[in-house]
Amino acid sequence: MDLQSRDIVIEAIIKKDINGAAKFHDLPYQERIKVINALDKKYLKKLTYIIKQAKKIRFHELNSRFLRVANEGIKTPVYVIDETLIEENMRVLRYVKDRTGCKILHALKAYASFATFPVMKVYLDGTCASGLNEARLGQEKFGKEVHTFAAAYRKDEFKKILKYSDVIIFNSFNQLERFIHITKKSNRQVGIRVNPGYGEAAADIYNACAPYSRLGIVYEIFKEGFLAYRDKIDGIHFHALCQQNADALKKILKSFEKLYGKYIRGLKWVNFGGGHHITRDDYDIELLIRLINEFQDKYKVQVYLEPGEASVLNAGVLIASVLDIVKNVMDIAIIDASAETHMPDVLLMPYRPFIIGSDKANEKRYTYRIAGPSCLAGDIVGDYSFDKPLKVGDRIVFTDMALYSIVKNTTFNGINLPDIAVLRKKGDIEVVRRFGYRDYMSRQS
Ligand SMILES: Cc1ncc(COP(=O)(O)O)c(C=O)c1O
Repeated sequence: MDLQSRDIVIEAIIKKDINGAAKFHDLPYQERIKVINALDKKYLKKLTYIIKQAKKIRFHELNSRFLRVANEGIKTPVYVIDETLIEENMRVLRYVKDRTGCKILHALKAYASFATFPVMKVYLDGTCASGLNEARLGQEKFGKEVHTFAAAYRKDEFKKILKYSDVIIFNSFNQLERFIHITKKSNRQVGIRVNPGYGEAAADIYNACAPYSRLGIVYEIFKEGFLAYRDKIDGIHFHALCQQNADALKKILKSFEKLYGKYIRGLKWVNFGGGHHITRDDYDIELLIRLINEFQDKYKVQVYLEPGEASVLNAGVLIASVLDIVKNVMDIAIIDASAETHMPDVLLMPYRPFIIGSDKANEKRYTYRIAGPSCLAGDIVGDYSFDKPLKVGDRIVFTDMALYSIVKNTTFNGINLPDIAVLRKKGDIEVVRRFGYRDYMSRQS
């Protein structure tokens, strides 16, 4: 890369030209770092601004491709994942890496459709896993680093977990004591998960710092046990965010440092967990970068992040078809996708997914309850209104369905799992997985 291309990028940044973002992303690593080093605080902020704006515009432009796929007669139900949009998210995550030198792992628990891993692994440092199967998938399909954390490990699985992991993170000193010898003997790094003492997830079910949480050693126990293992522990891990912005991380870090700050120096790394909604339009990337840089400077450790949602945020949809319309006071559209089996977080979290072209009930002319085909009375996605009346065969496109849906779906009622399709970079659609009776049957006996 010659000086000229770097200068072109810098000039675009100075002019706040949105096209500068793509030019920056296309530079090789050393050149991107040179650009970053050549900019002062004011222009770095401009770079962040154009990167965020460019991503927003790309998502806006490309979203119509989902509608095109839906209307071109693809078999439903189907999750459609847009590889180009995933790459857009990846570029933002890599920008955080470039600005800070932190490492970013993709959390497989959120999304594990390996058909798109070739695009993702170019940008990230590896994966984080919740146990044996994810660790194996991480190593076999993603490669690079695999960091595994489980609330408790099974003895009969542990050797295999070691085979597939580079780092093992323990949730208690009992577990550490039980497995540290074999972990060290296998030349794997050892981490310990702590409770940072502060969390503010919207619902307790997602709050790893809620009262009586089993996730992470609490400070009172940590301070009694840590020193005995100090020379064998490579890093500390905490996870306390859920779909949150950098201001929440700032508060968590304050509490974490107050409790654990004196134990950090001399460690190799600190892992800030997942839940950072870095690729959301309103996410404060500059604050995240500042927090990571300050932390790394202060403690001389490598910071890791392990977001899952941020990797695939808004990069996939679930397309369903209307099977029937029934009436009980209101109109109810029964579709071939189910909240219970295909988008379980809709009922669990709970939340109301967005349907392209719809509005809240009664905002547009025709209101329907959108409901699934299962026996569960509560298999209801929500009430939505549309400009035109729905009819059998109409397509319903639920947005933001790549995360925590494919990894969590079930075959309850024997309902078939949706196909998985990838919208490739060139615009062609590839159905990478189709499910059938065997998939249902193989989970019974
Ligand atoms: C330990 C750990 N790391 C990473 C993640 C990924 O979080 P998210 O997908 O919200 O970014 C989670 C989510 O529960 C987690 O528990």
